This record gives sequence, structure tokens and C-alpha cells, in this order.
Amino acid sequence: MRLNIGVIKGDGIGPEIVTEAMKVLDKVGEVFGHECCYTQLLMGGASIDVNGVPLTDETIELAKGSDAVLMGSIGGDAKTSPWYQLEPSKRPEAGLLKIRKELNLFANLRPAVLYDDLKEACPLKAEIAAKGFDMMIMRELTGGLYFGQRKTVEVDGVMTAYDELTYNENEIRRIAKRGFDIAMKRRKKVTSVDKANVLDSSRLWRKVVEEVAADYPDVTLENMLVDNCAMQLVKDPSQFDVILTENMFGDILSDEASMVTGSIGMLASASLNETKFGLYEPSGGSAPDIAGKGIANPIATILSAAMMLRFSFDLDKEADAIEAAVSKVLKDGFRTIDIMSEGNTQIGTCEMGDKICSYISI
Ligand code: IPM
Ligand code: MG
Repeated sequence: MRLNIGVIKGDGIGPEIVTEAMKVLDKVGEVFGHECCYTQLLMGGASIDVNGVPLTDETIELAKGSDAVLMGSIGGDAKTSPWYQLEPSKRPEAGLLKIRKELNLFANLRPAVLYDDLKEACPLKAEIAAKGFDMMIMRELTGGLYFGQRKTVEVDGVMTAYDELTYNENEIRRIAKRGFDIAMKRRKKVTSVDKANVLDSSRLWRKVVEEVAADYPDVTLENMLVDNCAMQLVKDPSQFDVILTENMFGDILSDEASMVTGSIGMLASASLNETKFGLYEPSGGSAPDIAGKGIANPIATILSAAMMLRFSFDLDKEADAIEAAVSKVLKDGFRTIDIMSEGNTQIGTCEMGDKICSYISI
């Protein structure tokens, strides 16, 4: 099979981690008989440097013309990078939000799994980590606070900022359906997270999710307030199967979930629309402080490439092979610095990619 993949290496550690994911994809191609054809696309700071804007129409068209897009990370150090002298709509992050919207990538899937071999890297108490966890965070990605009107104006001589939070029932229904569909393939439990004790948008969220739940009698639905969810994630993460939530809550909770897996460098993500197309990126940021040092963990990006094979290309065996190779590398004690613990072998970004490649087999 020929895989037409758009590649956004991006900023910070992006180029390093994407290079490793491409290496693994090429190895999978070699072993399973596929050809990966890459189109390099500019976005974020890298695009500002060349084009003056974080995302051009050309990049959007090229992305749309690909079967899937693999992305690293975008953004820089807000204190030192000249990108942050620009107005907010021209900064690197604006490119990411725009591509999500333009490609209608409303469903963001972030799986947080505690690998048996990474239990020592988990910051939770040993008795909590011992129970393990395997959850899928389903984050709504094209609505809510991220895409509302915003402005900063002076009201009666006082600087005042507005960010509008809107959800309509259709936006809620389509992500809820996705969440329940995914739960049907997992342990059949959905925890819908909202702030229905305060927000109207959350009250509508809860109502629509309950309506959708009626079509999935085999799935257990639980509603949870977001503050309680933040607490439960560290108290007993094993209780979660699918966490279904709106854009902002999903952003925050997915970082929290990633940390209990040991490191944000382990958390993959897929952003999907109604078609087979998806944008695949690690959930972590561009980590400018460690960029270029060859120490970043490429596993989240490599696991994002596995999600790409599974969701956009229906290549389940190939995706399994990547996931198995990652598990084996961890089992054999190879660790990047972020997940390093005593008795294991510390390796860099490139060696981690090489190790995973060497474990890819049919
Ligand atoms: C993420 C990131 C982005 C977000 C930023 C970079 C705009 O934190 O993908 O979680 O908030 O969605
Ligand atoms: Mg985030």
C-alpha cells in the first residue's frame, strides 16, 4: 500500500521526534511491504520564519491532499522567542488551532496507558500504580473556549478580557457518539466530564450526552464534574475507560493523565474528522529547553504514527507491531531521560528510534 503522509515537523523537539517516527514508519513499510511517501509541510514558528504566518493556505491544501498528517510540535519559549512579539492570531499556536478547524478535526483521542515496565516512573503511590490503568481521553477539539470570540477592552477605565464559551448540541452529539463508539470497542464505560453545577454549556453537554447514551445500552455512562475528575485521576486512575470531555477540560486533563503514565513523552494523540483523515501528534509541547540535545522522548510520536496506521489506513497488524516494539524496548530496560529509573539503560532520542525499529517484526 502507498501511504501519502503529510509531515509537519514543527518547532523545538518536533523535528527530532518526527524523524524517529518516520524511521519507524519506513521500517514498518519495509517489513510489511508498504511505501511511505512524505510531503513536508510548514506550520507554527517554522512557517512564521519562512512565510510570516503560522499556517498558509498552501499548507492547508497539501494537508487536505494527504491521507493523514504526522506532526511533531509547534511553539517556542514565550519569553525569548520573537514569535511571541507578534499579535496572538499570528503566533505558532494559532496555526495549530486553524488547521484543526479547517480540517474539521473535532475528535481528539489521547490514550493514557501505564506500561507495566514504567510503574517506577509513575509518580503515584505504589499501591495505586500497581492497579495499572488504560484510559482513552476523548477531547472535543474544534469548539468551546478555544474558538469563541475574544477581546480585551477597557470597560469604565478597567482593562477587561472576554473569552466566549459556546457549544451547540450538534457539536456535542458528534463527539459523544464517537466516544460511545470507542467505548464499545473497549471496556464499555464512558465518564463524561463537565462543570454542570456552574456552566450552561456543561448542562447542555450533559443533556445531549445522556440522549446519545440511550442508543448505547451496553455502555455505562457516568457524569463527573471536572474538579472531581482531576482528583480521581491521581486517586484511582484505574476507574476510567473513556473520558469524554470538552476542549479546555480535555486539554488540562490530558496533561494530568500523561504525567501519571510517567511522562508526557509517552502520550500519543489522534485528531479525527468524519472521514479516514487524521492529524497525529504527541500530546506534549515543543519543549524548547531540551530541543536539539538529542534527549527528547520520541515514543509519543512513534505511538501517534501507530494510531495513524490504525485509524487512517486500517493497518492494524502494522500498528500492533509498533506498539509491541515499544513495549519490548521498555521491557528490555531502555529509557530516555524523562522515564529513566535505577537499573535501566539511558539512551537518547535517535537510539530510542533505532531500538524500536530493530524490534519491528511481523
Ligand atoms: C495540546 C496543546 C495545544 C492545545 C496548544 C499548543 C494550543 O496544549 O494539543 O494539548 O491547547 O490544544
Ligand atoms: Mg495541551
